[in-house]
Amino acid sequence: MAKPKRRYVCQACGSVANRWQGQCADCGEWNSLAEEAPQTVFSAKHDLSSGGRAIAFEPLNAPGESLARRTTGLAEFDRALGGGLVPGSAILMGGDPGIGKSTLLLQAAAHIAQAGNEAVYVSGEEAAGQVRLRAERLGLSSAPIRLAAATSVRDILTTLGGMDAPRLLVIDSIQTMHSDQIEGAPGTVSQVRGCAFELIRYAKENGVALVLIGHVTKDGAIAGPRVLEHMVDVVMSFEGERSHQYRILRSLKNRFGPVDEIGVFAMAGQGLEEVANPSMLFLSGRDDPVAGSAVFPAVEGTRPVLVEIQALIVRLASGATPRRAVVGWDSGRLAMLLAVLEARCGLNFSSAEVYLNVAGGYRLADPAADLAVAAALVSALSDKPLPAKAVWFGEISLAGEIRPVAHATIRQRESAKLGFDIAYGPPGGAIGESGMHYNEVQMLPNLVDRILS
Ligand code: TYD
Ligand code: MG
Repeated sequence: MAKPKRRYVCQACGSVANRWQGQCADCGEWNSLAEEAPQTVFSAKHDLSSGGRAIAFEPLNAPGESLARRTTGLAEFDRALGGGLVPGSAILMGGDPGIGKSTLLLQAAAHIAQAGNEAVYVSGEEAAGQVRLRAERLGLSSAPIRLAAATSVRDILTTLGGMDAPRLLVIDSIQTMHSDQIEGAPGTVSQVRGCAFELIRYAKENGVALVLIGHVTKDGAIAGPRVLEHMVDVVMSFEGERSHQYRILRSLKNRFGPVDEIGVFAMAGQGLEEVANPSMLFLSGRDDPVAGSAVFPAVEGTRPVLVEIQALIVRLASGATPRRAVVGWDSGRLAMLLAVLEARCGLNFSSAEVYLNVAGGYRLADPAADLAVAAALVSALSDKPLPAKAVWFGEISLAGEIRPVAHATIRQRESAKLGFDIAYGPPGGAIGESGMHYNEVQMLPNLVDRILS
């Protein structure tokens, strides 16, 4: 057997190096490498092709197995999950600190317990008293949740082994858990991975729906190893601006359902409230149009959400490097759009600061937002307001063409329902919706001409 090698594991991304470095070669994080216990290295002669047990092959259409989904008690949570909790599944819930992950899971656990099912909430971050205070504020003190403050996975699994399997097990958070079988402090890659592995195994063997709450790094990835995302069945992120009320629950990976459905909540004094009809939430509700504002009919999954996109252009007097700041949209995409507007339409943004904001703290993921962003930018640059009752959708190519996007029908129906009567979009997008006047935009220069004329 070869001598075990030292290994250094990046605590941010989980990549392994053979020697210590100040910066991770994979993810570029500084001071993130930590030495971990060496793994046994087997020689190439080690033969695994005999001596094992034979495994049985199974048919794909095994009878008697249907996905029994169980409600979380929160319809918006169920919707984002694709219909509810699947027994024996593991869900990783990420989100910025203070966004409301603990609140959401405490509410779900309480609803499940109130419906007469077992729900276990293990807090590794807060003392039981703190969780109790929160439950009191939420008006859920009487829910018969099994609450514990613990961080030892061995203690947790021993306890769970001695009782009936709960319907829901919440671990808040996976970064605080530790196992005495594994070296390293809680939160290190090997601890997080090892603890998650044991908890997921328990969940699978006992048909328990497991939710692991996970911390998020500054750039939005779930802290610790990416491998955690591979180990679980569902990865969800809870998003929103802390200064705003609205929260979006999105699934980024789902082995049991679609990934584009969202759940919408509002953080209120009594915890998270469900928002069943979100389409108006992200409009500013202003009557007189202002320059730089365009309404985009977004579609998330099957759900239309109208959002307002705001652009502000500030001309700089001299050669200082202009700023580009984006809230709620992709900054790379904005740079691309500005380049297309310059190259194809002859507009000049190079000596101006550009600010782009999606109203209401919403984060846009729908690629059809390009046209609305372009309209807001051109309107801001020319200081000309766009028509008050207009919506804009379409994807823009590098050549400046407006390309077709999915869900033209849902977008226009919802816009018409909310009182908008003009839609600008890609060729072929007209649906003949009564009361909606559709304007085809072929190329970006056509759009600029329309706005400036
Ligand atoms: P929390 O669930 O602790 O966030 P996370 O677990 O994601 O870190 O949410 C904390 C925030 O939510 C806190 O800043 C206060 C706010 N909040 C309310 O506004 N109303 C409430 O009823 C509760 C419980 C929290
Ligand atoms: Mg928390």
